[in-house]
Amino acid sequence: MAKNNGNWGINTRLAHGGNDPRDFFGFVNPPVVHASTVLYPDAATMTTRGQKYTYGTHGTPTSDALAAAIDELEGSAGTIIVPSGLAAVTVPLLAFASAGDHILVVDSIYRPTRHFCDTMLKRMGVDVEYYEPRIGAGIKALFRPNTRIVFTESPASNTYEVQDIPAISKEAHAIGAMVMMDNTWATPLYLRPLDHGVDISIHAATKYPGGHSDVLLGTVSANEACWPKLLGGFDALGCCAGPNDVYQVLRGLRTMGVRLEHHGKNALEIARWLETEAGVARVLHPALESHPDHALWKRDFSGASGVFSVVLAGGGQKQAHAFLDALKIFGLGYSWGGYESLAVPVFLDDRTIAKGPYEGPLIRLQIGLEDLEDLKTDLSAGLAAARAA
Ligand SMILES: Cc1ncc(COP(=O)(O)O)c(C=O)c1O
Repeated sequence: MAKNNGNWGINTRLAHGGNDPRDFFGFVNPPVVHASTVLYPDAATMTTRGQKYTYGTHGTPTSDALAAAIDELEGSAGTIIVPSGLAAVTVPLLAFASAGDHILVVDSIYRPTRHFCDTMLKRMGVDVEYYEPRIGAGIKALFRPNTRIVFTESPASNTYEVQDIPAISKEAHAIGAMVMMDNTWATPLYLRPLDHGVDISIHAATKYPGGHSDVLLGTVSANEACWPKLLGGFDALGCCAGPNDVYQVLRGLRTMGVRLEHHGKNALEIARWLETEAGVARVLHPALESHPDHALWKRDFSGASGVFSVVLAGGGQKQAHAFLDALKIFGLGYSWGGYESLAVPVFLDDRTIAKGPYEGPLIRLQIGLEDLEDLKTDLSAGLAAARAA
């Protein structure tokens, strides 16, 4: 079967990307290789490490299959696979940031990314500065002679501001800085960051690629220029993922296209419906025409996934808790991208710039694969409880 066929549609590529069945006796799926030791045929080969696989931390046919599938989707030169989405953030930052560097991180970043920057990176002597998500080309006003990395995440965690990634990348490259992007929300199906000037694309594969809330994994994909240093950092850190988890994500990728389409369609329909419901002040979903960044989202993204936030019309913790406690289908739990619907209260106390104001409590909704009418009934009960609280 020919690989890397650029003419194939996305679901064909998802179904056939990565491994070639003919490499392993025709079995459709690749072997799950549990490995530390790899044997060499002789001392000379061992001395030069002159064979494809050398040790478990440096890759196996299982990790290669997923990395190749992700490279096809991202258009990247190489992909590393790490044990969680958070590791997919920390490993590239550790690989590229040095003491004395200044790095710019979007203020609406995933909270644990910020925690890593504020603790380990700062302790290592990296100067971390946060910027407004809608800054666009204005980022250049924040550049210093030692600015090395601009870290982006778009749309924003929990509040869904859209960043002008091409404008930011252009300015960053003009001063020799690199751009990293946490692209978990869109997946490579709805945005290919490297096509927009990003150097390193980051994914919590825990979410839509895994898709079943039963595995943690991260992928980091680099362009040609950044790939050797990313791989070097990965090899130095030994932060490799277990083979069963890697396999499960490759398995998840096969159906990600159809799942994502369903998540996206249901989420947008629920977002539109919520906009009309009593007790809702605003819905923060970039595919809604009412979203302030809708035009930017439409310009750069080819679709929307299934997670967004709703702002209740007034109230505080009491109303938020009443809403959440009334839900029967939506589970109260962190993460997203799985088949089941989830709701979490959003706290913006870590932010210094992009913190509102909002009219009332924020609730993040992950729309699963359940039937739409059941989800609406559940959310109606939540809204009624919040209004009554
Ligand atoms: C945007 C984003 N990036 C990274 C992560 C981290 O992924 P993981 O839970 O696999 O560590 C998350 C998890 O919620 C996330 O929302």
